[in-house]
Amino acid sequence: CLSSKERCRARCQTANLLGVLLGRRIRMATDNKLRFVTSMLEFPSGAGNISALNAIILGEALASEENDLVFPSDDFARQAHVSSPQQYFEMYKSLHALRISTFAKGNISIQWFKGGLTNICYNCLDRNIESGNADKIAIYWEGNDPGLQDSLTYSQLLDKVCQLSNYLKDVGVKKGDAVVIYLPMLMELPIAMLACARIGAVHSVVFAGYSSESLAQRIIDCKPKVVITCNAVKRGAKVIHLKDIVDAALAESAKNGISVDVCLTYENQIALKREGTKWKEGKDVWWQDFVPKYPTTCEVEWVDAEDPLFLLYTSGSTGKPKGVLHTTGGYMVYSATTFKYAFDYKPSDVYWCTADCGWITGHSYVTYGPMLNGASVVVFEGTPTYPDAGRCWDIVDKFKVTIFYTAPTLVRSLMRESNEHVTRYSRKSLRVLGSVGEPINPSAWRWFFNVVGDSRCPISDTWWQTETGGFMITPLPGAWPQKPGSATFPFFGVQPVIVDEKGVEIEGVCSGYLCIKNSWPGAFRTLYGDHERYETTYFKPFAGYYFTGDGCSRDKDGYHWLTGRVDDVINVSGHRIGTAEVESALVSHPKCAEAAVVGVEHEVKGQGIYAFVTLVEGEPYSEELRKSLVLTVRNQIGAFAAPDKIHWAPGLPKTRSGKIMRRILRKIASKQLDELGDTSTLAEPHVVEQLIELADR
Ligand code: WTA
Repeated sequence: CLSSKERCRARCQTANLLGVLLGRRIRMATDNKLRFVTSMLEFPSGAGNISALNAIILGEALASEENDLVFPSDDFARQAHVSSPQQYFEMYKSLHALRISTFAKGNISIQWFKGGLTNICYNCLDRNIESGNADKIAIYWEGNDPGLQDSLTYSQLLDKVCQLSNYLKDVGVKKGDAVVIYLPMLMELPIAMLACARIGAVHSVVFAGYSSESLAQRIIDCKPKVVITCNAVKRGAKVIHLKDIVDAALAESAKNGISVDVCLTYENQIALKREGTKWKEGKDVWWQDFVPKYPTTCEVEWVDAEDPLFLLYTSGSTGKPKGVLHTTGGYMVYSATTFKYAFDYKPSDVYWCTADCGWITGHSYVTYGPMLNGASVVVFEGTPTYPDAGRCWDIVDKFKVTIFYTAPTLVRSLMRESNEHVTRYSRKSLRVLGSVGEPINPSAWRWFFNVVGDSRCPISDTWWQTETGGFMITPLPGAWPQKPGSATFPFFGVQPVIVDEKGVEIEGVCSGYLCIKNSWPGAFRTLYGDHERYETTYFKPFAGYYFTGDGCSRDKDGYHWLTGRVDDVINVSGHRIGTAEVESALVSHPKCAEAAVVGVEHEVKGQGIYAFVTLVEGEPYSEELRKSLVLTVRNQIGAFAAPDKIHWAPGLPKTRSGKIMRRILRKIASKQLDELGDTSTLAEPHVVEQLIELADR
């Protein structure tokens, strides 16, 4: 029922699209179409996707008007590393070696270049310096407060890394030893990662927003020789005393028989002078007093491609965080290659990723991927909305950022503010935008594209996970049209499949569970100390596949649409939180008898944490108690895991065998009361009504 004006506009849009498509078609027609089709047949996998993509390029996709395609401009495509689907197919075939093998249905053991010797720090620094980039800026650092900034060239960075490597060796850190890093986004954070890598030590970065209990849990698991931290940090207007948190964690670890030899502390004078810091003589060491005394050269420790590079803990569907272990060679090749192609990286780019190095994104796409490519990287200590919502664009203009990579939650929070915060900055330097962490809703995508990128910067919506080490499904920004909200197609060598609940692959238009059919170089090799859990969690659910834990659908053009987690993991502002972790924090509160946590839609965070709490017998609800429950979660996990809502629950809906019916809780939490489904199998069906009544208490 369009008005004639709207009909006219719709027709014009279609005509424009047709024009663009025809333009592409003409370019395509210069290629040998027959050969193109043949190469499709030889395409190692996912031929379904490829013929669909082919249809788009040949203009057939136009048949349907609901197609929401956003093309890269001709100028962009022309200069891109990969500028057409055809080139992508060719490269997919020639980069076939990236694909290792399909997963055996037995023991899982992934290896890449085993026996080859390498060092990722060497490849990030020495190699770039030797090839003439010694004076190129490696890091532009921007502090929490505007006006505070610093930078390091590649050769200055190498000097600092070597000094820290020498220090670590001197205090007894050897190849294979763990080092825990609990630092804010100072330059010292990537320096510490690289220094560990240089001497073959295994770093485990713990996000500096984690509480002392979470930090202790990780220290107890990986038993580091050294913990590297900072006395305090300013986040927005607040000062956070990191050293106190570390002290509490170390006291907790000591109770569990784990003693850490050295706590190396960076004195952050901006936040707090050393006089204000609690100190343990004999264990605590000031970074500034000792590290700069060491030589600025340090021999590289050559490690096997399969030697561990780092451990990163991530949340799963059961209580204990999992130590995801990445090794050196495959991860290195994978993070470097994905970075180059998904962002169409060129040596003249200035790259900024807003993620913290405490998450995988900060590992692969703040430190390793960009530096392996010799990029100039912006490292930002602060929060993107301090002092105001224009901070990001201020930084973009200041450093002439060309590639800007962030999370949908930030896009959504900035979208709520006036566009003037964006438009008062030039942003002319930008050429590629990126998104990661959760599905980006089409409206946020459009705002990011139109307002931030002035409708000229392609968006790479990169789907991947801590476990995958690097991008798995991602646009190559010049190669094919994008659809807002879709991560599009697999990276070279990756074979995504969608399976039904029986584990049978579904072809064509479908939705189901996202699995990966083959291994790839960046894949994690094990869960630290628990290979059995690795196999059970990821490879048992669907035999012969790696199970991602995500739902996914594929449209008629073969585009992939990620639909979110299908397990008990909640994605809050792009941070993975296991419902079980929050529940166990809640029940540790003396007044909480039972808790069940589900995710609910949240306008800014993507998902919010909704907790149903049953109190111990006779305990009355109160606002004070609600606060104290939330505080317990903050203290045990971190502020980012604090429940958004506590729903008092005299009882929880359970099956007769005692299993909590989360399906019903999710419906109650999202107020979809007409979709509660069958409640007759519940042990006590009346609890559902009780819960509905108490929803707004
Ligand atoms: C989600 C972050 C949709 C997904 C790199 C995945 C995404 C989990 C996207 C991994 C995306 C990440 N579109 N969903 N572009 N990127 N996810 O381990 O649910 O912190 O399983 O790694 O985030 O989170 P993780």
